Amino acid sequence: MSVFITRRIPAAGEARLREAGVEFEVGQPIDDTPVPREVLLAGVRDHDVVLSLLTERIDREVLTANPRLRGVSNMAVGLDNVDCAAAEELGIPVGNTPGVLTDATADLAWALLMAASRHVAAGHRFMLEGRFELWGPEMFCGVDVGPGVDGRRKTLGIVGYGRIGRACARRARGFDMDVVACGRSLDAPAAAREDGVHWLALPDLLERADFVSLHCPLNDATHHLLGAAEFARMKSQAVLVNTARGPVVDEAALVTALRAGEIGAAGLDVFEREPVTAPGLLELDNVVALPHIGSATRATRDRMAVMAADNAVRFLAQPRG
Ligand code: DGY
Repeated sequence: MSVFITRRIPAAGEARLREAGVEFEVGQPIDDTPVPREVLLAGVRDHDVVLSLLTERIDREVLTANPRLRGVSNMAVGLDNVDCAAAEELGIPVGNTPGVLTDATADLAWALLMAASRHVAAGHRFMLEGRFELWGPEMFCGVDVGPGVDGRRKTLGIVGYGRIGRACARRARGFDMDVVACGRSLDAPAAAREDGVHWLALPDLLERADFVSLHCPLNDATHHLLGAAEFARMKSQAVLVNTARGPVVDEAALVTALRAGEIGAAGLDVFEREPVTAPGLLELDNVVALPHIGSATRATRDRMAVMAADNAVRFLAQPRG
């Protein structure tokens, strides 16, 4: 019985497998290199469980490569890289890593919200380029995140009120914001009510919010949830934050909206065709971009690796259904 780890994971995860006496092989030991498809397929064929990262497409071809496959343990909360419907049909359990990355991701969403609102990245670039020669009253004027001088409470719109969306709402309280939310999960409206968060339909949320933060999973219903029509509804100074999945946003339409001043700024941790970004996106001064690091704190990534290893060990112990 053994585990195929598609690409290297944090040492804590490998240590957990060793503790459990489980043998494993790593398909791609070089950190910044993808695992070739033929290596992935051969690895799945030769092992009983696959421990994957979000960079691997675990589709029907992978799932059927080994009739003995006992499970897929994905080291991510998102499962959009795994064909879960095919896995269910084939009786292959799929695991993910919910809960442990909630605060790390909400923190990063908040960092992007602040950075995009106050031109933090553009100001930093300006410093690095040695262009700070004289202070001026018009330099890098952004938007208030808290009530600010006019005393108006700002509204945060959360799209997808799961664990991370909820954690974002908690952060908003410290900035005296009103929070509105929308989403498809059945228990989310009750959670929102409990948190004093107003439940709205997406179009109303987009019209009302000063900040929109995305926290929904990527699936057929959320692919391009935000496109040209949705940006047209948003306030011209609104700030969009995406720490969920890139394809939730039509990235080309976002570039157009940002260029045209239809919305104010965007803070993005995820992109439609990672690691590629839409033409023109990174040239915009009103964009702050990060390389999908929402869960990247040392402690969080270690916990994710351990959780993924535990899921893999559990799958090894149970016969395929
Ligand atoms: C996830 O877990 O889905 C994040 O995108 C990476 O941590």
